Amino acid sequence: LGHKVHIYDEVDSTQTIAHQLVASGAPEGTIVLAEKQNAGRGRMGRKWHSPAGKGIWMSLILTPRIPVYFMPQLTLLSAVALCRSIQKVCQVEIGIKWPNDLLIHGKKVSGILLESSGEDERLKYVIAGIGISVNLLDEDYPEELKHIATSLAIESGALVSRERIVQAFLFEFEELYALYLEKGFAPIRLLWEALSVTLKRPIRTNTPTGVIEGIADSLDDSGALTVITPSGEHLKIYSGDIELR
Ligand code: BTN
Repeated sequence: LGHKVHIYDEVDSTQTIAHQLVASGAPEGTIVLAEKQNAGRGRMGRKWHSPAGKGIWMSLILTPRIPVYFMPQLTLLSAVALCRSIQKVCQVEIGIKWPNDLLIHGKKVSGILLESSGEDERLKYVIAGIGISVNLLDEDYPEELKHIATSLAIESGALVSRERIVQAFLFEFEELYALYLEKGFAPIRLLWEALSVTLKRPIRTNTPTGVIEGIADSLDDSGALTVITPSGEHLKIYSGDIELR
């Protein structure tokens, strides 16, 4: 991975560039990095705050020949790789909130957005979009993010090298991806569970059919979160956001 790296000063979204690169034949492992994104995308149609030079705004092209419905597993794999790479480079207490937000002291420091194409049964390609708030300081956050977002610099008290994080991430990702392609999701699931700050905690989520509240219990084989409700029902959450309570 990362044998071909495209670096830009300013883009709308590294995701868009990565999709274009795939269309012009870019191979698996190609990486797009930008200093600044003007229209960084988050999950569920949200924006991703991507100021110049302060973070890692990166998209990674993958072409695993796996069924489309396995995609959530890749999201969880990416979260494990990110968490491990950040732990190696900075001394911070970081954990994963289902499915793939990285939190330090309850605040979000990094997010992952997977976009795919290939609506037959197998994926044609996936773009793994990784956003890591590395060197943002308090004043770099708009008011509405100040209470929910943080950065590696804020949490570790020193500026952090983006190169070291990207390098560590690619190393971890490559190792986990090879393990996943060889052995499937089971070993990744164990690693995810060990890094999770979600399991065994009370959570709440909005679904199209109403609010679910309960204790987050485990991950299933597809990457869905099993929740046990106060009445003892086991429900599965496949997508969306949860609130830790
Ligand atoms: C989320 O937590 O909602 C996911 C955020 C993903 C942000 C990254 S930054 C690089 C890539 N390009 C984008 O436009 N988004 C992802």
